[in-house]
Amino acid sequence: MKFAPLHKLTTERLVLKKIEKSDSETLLFLRSDKTINQFIKREKTESKEEILTFIKKINNGIINNNWLYWCISLKDNPTMIGTICLWNFSANSKVAEVGYELMPKYQKKGIANEALNRIIEFGFNTLNLESIEASTHKENKSSRSLLLKNKFRLIDNKKKDSDSINNILFALRNPIVKNDIE
Ligand SMILES: CC(C)(COP(=O)(O)OP(=O)(O)OC[C@H]1O[C@@H](n2cnc3c(N)ncnc32)[C@H](O)[C@@H]1OP(=O)(O)O)[C@@H](O)C(=O)NCCC(=O)NCCS
Repeated sequence: MKFAPLHKLTTERLVLKKIEKSDSETLLFLRSDKTINQFIKREKTESKEEILTFIKKINNGIINNNWLYWCISLKDNPTMIGTICLWNFSANSKVAEVGYELMPKYQKKGIANEALNRIIEFGFNTLNLESIEASTHKENKSSRSLLLKNKFRLIDNKKKDSDSINNILFALRNPIVKNDIE
């Protein structure tokens, strides 16, 4: 399965599109702000140079079929308000992990939910994924609630995220994929 070029996706209020250099200021905030990162274990990206390198790495990773990474913006304003990605694809490209983050001003408006809905639809209907997973800190209430609202189930039969023992794993199965066990 080839991912590139990145599909531009739309929802009622949002456009999901490729990340550009012009998104660097928002990305810098998202990847360095303490509150946004309180439940995310990742290296902070603290300078403009590091962010520009990160953007290059992200967009090269899409071309090289490693992941898909979208900038979330409102339909009537091109400014980045968050990101959503599918990454950590299994070797057969049938399982991927979803990740998301939103600028504080845009949280609690159902925007993450709207973006996740579209990515689930794209993942299942276009990429033919069998399952989408999400690893989230057990105390990350907003993220857990977003996943549960979208019918993700907590799975405990899989080894926990080795990066963080505080993370719990959720999964959503593509309803049209036959379950071998049944
Ligand atoms: C995780 C994160 C993206 C969730 O964002 P969010 O805005 O809370 O999620 P949703 O889009 O589902 O919004 C839900 C809230 O919007 C409210 N809402 C307002 N208008 C709405 C609308 N039109 N439609 C749906 N919900 C709406 C809902 O009632 C709900 O409020 P509640 O949580 O008080 O019940 C956000 O908290 C975040 O960016 N966190 C930092 C990064 C992070 O931790 N990422 C996850 C790593 S695993």
